[in-house]
Amino acid sequence: MIILKSVVVGALLPGVLALPRNLPTDIKLNKKASSAVSADERAAEVINTFRIAWDGYYKYAFPNDELKPVSNSFGNSRNAWGASAVDALSTALVMQQKDIVNEIIDYIPKINFHNSSTDVSLFETTIRYLAGMLSGYDFLTGPLENLADNTANVDALLSQAISLADTLSYAFETPSGVPWNNLNLNTRGNDGSPNGLATVGTLVLEWVRLSDLSGNATYGKLAEKAETYLLNPSPAWSEPWPGLLGMDINVTTGEFLDAHGGWIGGADSFYEYLIKMFVYDPNRYSSYKDRWVLAADSTIKHLTSHPITRPDITFIAAFNNQTLDLSSQHLAGFAGGNFILAGQVLGRQDYIDYGLALTNAWHETYIGTATGIGPEIFGWDSTKVPAGQESLFNKSGFYIQDSGYQLRPEVIESFYYAYRETGDTKYQEWAWDAYLAINATTRVGSGYSSIRDVNAVGGGGFSDEMESFFFAEVLKYAYLIQAPDAEWQVSGDGKNSWVFNTEAHPLKVFGT
Ligand SMILES: *[C@@H]1O[C@H](CO)[C@@H](O)[C@H](O)[C@H]1NC(C)=O
Ligand SMILES: *[C@@H]1O[C@H](CO)[C@@H](O)[C@H](O)[C@H]1NC(C)=O
Ligand SMILES: *[C@@H]1O[C@H](CO)[C@@H](O)[C@H](O)[C@H]1NC(C)=O
Ligand SMILES: *[C@@H]1O[C@H](CO)[C@@H](O)[C@H](O)[C@H]1NC(C)=O
Ligand SMILES: *[C@@H]1O[C@H](CO)[C@@H](O)[C@H](O)[C@H]1NC(C)=O
Ligand SMILES: *[C@@H]1O[C@H](CO)[C@@H](O)[C@H](O)[C@H]1NC(C)=O
Repeated sequence: MIILKSVVVGALLPGVLALPRNLPTDIKLNKKASSAVSADERAAEVINTFRIAWDGYYKYAFPNDELKPVSNSFGNSRNAWGASAVDALSTALVMQQKDIVNEIIDYIPKINFHNSSTDVSLFETTIRYLAGMLSGYDFLTGPLENLADNTANVDALLSQAISLADTLSYAFETPSGVPWNNLNLNTRGNDGSPNGLATVGTLVLEWVRLSDLSGNATYGKLAEKAETYLLNPSPAWSEPWPGLLGMDINVTTGEFLDAHGGWIGGADSFYEYLIKMFVYDPNRYSSYKDRWVLAADSTIKHLTSHPITRPDITFIAAFNNQTLDLSSQHLAGFAGGNFILAGQVLGRQDYIDYGLALTNAWHETYIGTATGIGPEIFGWDSTKVPAGQESLFNKSGFYIQDSGYQLRPEVIESFYYAYRETGDTKYQEWAWDAYLAINATTRVGSGYSSIRDVNAVGGGGFSDEMESFFFAEVLKYAYLIQAPDAEWQVSGDGKNSWVFNTEAHPLKVFGT
C-alpha cells in the first residue's frame, strides 16, 4: 500500500527536540538538499518499504515469527511468538503508521510466553520481545500515546513484558547468578552449555528498564548481578588488554573460558551496553562507563588496523589473547556509532573522530562490492588474500570471507549516529544509497530476502529469510536518518531522552 507523503512525514511532535550538533545554520533538517531526492521523499520511500514488508508478513506469516518472502511461507526461529510483529512495533511507532501499530498491539496480549516447543534464547528474547514491548509502552504512554486505539492494549505491553520476564527469570538461578542462555521453558531446563559475553552482557538495559517501569526491583538486580562477572572478569588472562574480554563464560563459576574476542558477534553488544547504561542513568552506571572507556582506549591502542592497500581505512581487528586476527564482520559495523555516541556523552572528540573513521571504513565495505552492500565477514590480512580477490583487496582494502547479507542494520546504524553528530548530509546520502542497494537487490516475492553474494550482480540468489530485525533496525535507521526531528532521535549534544537497545528499540532514559 502506498500512502500519501503528506500524511506520513513532517508531523513534528511536541516535546524536546534533539537537534544534531554542528548543523550549518542555513541548512535545516529535511530541507531539500542539492541532490535530486529530498530527505522527506526518502523518508516516505522507506515507510513505503516498511509497509510492503509488513503486508507480506501479515498476509503469509503472521502470527509466526518471520516471513519467507520467496516461497510466501513462514519460519519460527524465535519461539513462534510473532517475533516480526513485536520487533516491528517501535518502527511502526516512529513512522507513525497507526493502522500497523494497532494491528500489533491488538495481537500482543494474545501471546502465551509460558510455552515454546523450541529452545528459548534469553538474549534474543530480551532484545527483541522484551525490548519491543517496553519501547512500545514507553512511546504509547508518552509522546505517541495518540496512536493507540485501545489503552488496554497499552497496559498489556507492560503486563506481557512482566509475564515474559517472570517466565524467563529462572534462568538466573545458577550458583554464580550468570544465567543460562538456552532455555527449555516447558521443563524449566537449559542446554548446559556455557554462556557468552554478548548474551550475558546484553540484558541489563531491558531488565533494569522493566524494574523501573514495574516497580519490581528483582529484574534489574538479576541482570546486574550477572553483569558483575563482566565488570570484574576472572581469570586475569581472559582480559588480554584492559577492558577487552574473552567470550565464553562458565555459568557455574562466572569465570571466562577463553581470551578470544573483539567488537564482533558474540562480544559486540556487551561493549555497546556499557556506555548505553551510562546514557540510561549516569548516577547508577558510571562504573559501566569506566569499563567502556578502558575497552575503548585498549581498542584504539591495540586493535586499530589499516589495510596495507588502503592505509586511509580504519578497521578494528579481532584478537585471540594478544594475537590479532585481521578480520571483521557486518555485525561489528555498529562500533562507529557506539564510539560516536560515547564521544558525545563524554565530551570526547577523540572518540567521535575514531567512530567517524570506523563508519567510513564500513562504508567502504558497501561501496566496494557489486551490489553496493557490505559482506557478512571480511578480512584484510595481505598474506591471506583468497585467489580471485586480489583486485578487490587492492582497490577497497578488504576481501570477502562470507559473502552473504541477511538484511543486517549495523552499517546504516553507524551512518545514523554519524549524521546526528555532524549534521553532514553525506551520511544521509550514504544511508540512502545503502537503502537503494538493499531495495534493488533483496526485493522479491512478498517482501525482502537475505541474499547469498553481495559481490555478484543481483545478489547471487535468495536464501528466503526476512529476519525480524529488518523491521526493527534496518528500516528504522534508514528512516530516522532522513526523518523530521523528534525527541526520540539521538541528539548531537550528548543529552538524550531516549536510548536505543541493540535491536534499535528506543527506551526512555531514566528520569526524563
Ligand atoms: C518480581 O519479579 C520476580 C522475578 O521474576 C518474581 O519472582 C517476583 O514474584 C516478582 N515480585 C512481585 C511482587 O511481583
Ligand atoms: C507449558 O509449560 C508448562 C510449564 O511451564 C508445562 O507444564 C506444560 O506441559 C507446557 N505445555 C505444553 C503444551 O507444552
Ligand atoms: C564450570 O565450572 C564447574 C565448577 O568448577 C566445572 O565443574 C565445569 O566443568 C566447568 N564447565 C566448563 C564448561 O568449563
Ligand atoms: C597471552 O599472551 C601473553 C603475552 O603474549 C602470554 O604471556 C600469556 O601466557 C598468554 N596467555 C594465554 C592464556 O595464552
Ligand atoms: C595488487 O597489487 C599488487 C601490489 O601492488 C600487485 O602486484 C598485483 O598485481 C595487484 N593485483 C591485482 C589483481 O590488481
Ligand atoms: C525498490 O525496488 C522496486 C522493485 O525492484 C522498484 O520498483 C522501486 O522503484 C525501488 N524503489 C526505489 C526507491 O528505487
